[in-house]
Amino acid sequence: MPTISSRLVFWRTVWFLIHIRCAQCLIKYPTVAIFTQHYQKQLKKINQACFPVSYGDSFYNDVKKLDENLCKFAYYSGSAIGAICTRVEPIPESPNGRSRLYIMTLGVLAAYRNHGIGSKLVQSIIEYYESEKDGKLSTVDEIMVHTQTSNMDAMKFYVDRFGFEKGELVENYYKRIDPPHCYILRKKLR
Ligand SMILES: CC(C)(COP(=O)(O)OP(=O)(O)OC[C@H]1O[C@@H](n2cnc3c(N)ncnc32)[C@H](O)[C@@H]1OP(=O)(O)O)[C@@H](O)C(=O)NCCC(=O)NCCS
Repeated sequence: MPTISSRLVFWRTVWFLIHIRCAQCLIKYPTVAIFTQHYQKQLKKINQACFPVSYGDSFYNDVKKLDENLCKFAYYSGSAIGAICTRVEPIPESPNGRSRLYIMTLGVLAAYRNHGIGSKLVQSIIEYYESEKDGKLSTVDEIMVHTQTSNMDAMKFYVDRFGFEKGELVENYYKRIDPPHCYILRKKLR
């Protein structure tokens, strides 16, 4: 006959295992939602934790003006754990006013990486593009990002997972980090 305390230990262990399993499932299925400017603080926190460069007020002021559908947070258990900010910008060399989606920042907190969250964020932007490619985003031809030459994780992520192509090396793109160089990665969208 099990004693009360051994029953208690048993049910505590069951509860603990269920909790861990649920957490694992939730991390696999994070919510990706549109954020609004009310969430500037969370965005700052994620960017500070994910990037070696610090973004100033002008960056966050620009973010406020972006199409909300091009800036998303990933949530886990009520907290923002990743974010993507994308803008539409003209392709400078394009003679007929074509434009591109430019990924300004994409970051997932280190503890939550390798669970498909970064992919979900990029995918949500591509899905929005697909839904608006004949509407609001009819001038957009490609998606592009700058990636520090040493950031192998990000390069692998964009190239292997999303089919971006490695383009030009831009020397001394970053002012305060080493190495200061980056590659342009781009993917044709149409
Ligand atoms: C780049 C970055 C955003 C990727 O985020 P992430 O959430 O780890 O991305 P994902 O989990 O979708 O993909 C990463 C890897 O996890 C794997 N993965 C995806 N879903 C998975 C799952 N459910 N279980 C286990 N692994 C999984 C992917 O296959 C991928 O592996 P790969 O390297 O073999 O392609 C993240 O590393 C980061 O924030 N880096 C710092 C900031 C940065 O450099 N940003 C990019 C420049 S803007």
